[in-house]
Amino acid sequence: MVDSFSIAGTGRLLFGAGRLSELPNLADTGSALLICGNSFLANRKSASISSEAAYVHTVREEPDPDLIDSLTERVKGKIKSVIAIGGGSVLDAGKAVAAMCCSDGSVEDYLEGVGTKTPTGETLPLIAVPTTAGTGSEATKNAVISRRGERGYKKSLRHDNFVPSIALIDPELYLSCPDPIMASCGMDAFSQLLESYISLKSNAYTDALAWRGLTLFLDNFIDLFNRTGKRSEQMGAIAFAAYLSGITLANAGLGTVHGIAGPLGGFFGIPHGTACGTLMPETMRRTAERLSRSEDADDSENRALKKLDSLGRYIGGSGREALLDLLDKWLVKLEIPALSTFGIEAGHIDKIVTASANKDNPWQFSPEEMADLIKARL
Ligand SMILES: [Fe+2]
Repeated sequence: MVDSFSIAGTGRLLFGAGRLSELPNLADTGSALLICGNSFLANRKSASISSEAAYVHTVREEPDPDLIDSLTERVKGKIKSVIAIGGGSVLDAGKAVAAMCCSDGSVEDYLEGVGTKTPTGETLPLIAVPTTAGTGSEATKNAVISRRGERGYKKSLRHDNFVPSIALIDPELYLSCPDPIMASCGMDAFSQLLESYISLKSNAYTDALAWRGLTLFLDNFIDLFNRTGKRSEQMGAIAFAAYLSGITLANAGLGTVHGIAGPLGGFFGIPHGTACGTLMPETMRRTAERLSRSEDADDSENRALKKLDSLGRYIGGSGREALLDLLDKWLVKLEIPALSTFGIEAGHIDKIVTASANKDNPWQFSPEEMADLIKARL
């Protein structure tokens, strides 16, 4: 039923509208590094926090090793904690700097699949305050660091101790997020929930959390864009679902959507949420098709199909087709662009496939199947 699960490994959660005001009571801002996005500094509520912080740094894009190293050099030995307020990139940058303030060398030395050193787990206290419902970084033990370009990569700095000590989720902070960003971040969070729900490593605990997150999405996500219903409550539901996605991915893993999204971000700079969003419906459809055709399907494969059926029934259909059709409609409704929009052509597919992975997807796509899947999303 379950091999291992560590809810104790998650940090403390503070959730609710207006709770940003509690931040000064949670950390000595005078000895903290504040990392945030530009939009947060323009926010009136942030004025006092940023003026009190010992150091302030803004992050505009997915963090690369050079940014983490230079920021660490600037603050190492001078701060006692890190406060990260922003989207997934900001939270990951905060997580990495908090850890590297307690380690020697470059962050690149410690990245999985890149460096040769293992993180010791030493880190400064980190308060993560997300402003988008996306990566769930506020609940995860890894920071994703990207090197862009021809030899690009997206790799993780990971240790159980790197889960932020406090996740402060104030849904009011999400309300000013522009629709296109809310769409791509939401598709990332939904992908994380769905991939961890049907993952080969899923278990009874992660299933319960993923189901809750998925149904919160199915009940609220599109209404946020239609401007129907109570927006603040819908935003709270999606913010909480994204947080749950961080816990489920950390404990049950991810699948082929994220296994391909990594190289797409590293090589071509495609925003992570957009990469996940554009791949997710087709990947789920093909996963379901391959599993249902598999004659020697094992228990975990059959379980994955049953889970997709349950979600289809939850939204009023008779099985998985209803869910798969809904995901196709989301792609159109949310105007998630195809891969060719980012300059990806058929000639790039082999390189992408070579760097991709199936992770814990219940159907392990062959390189040829994966190439065909990417081709369908050009
Ligand atoms: Fe993700």
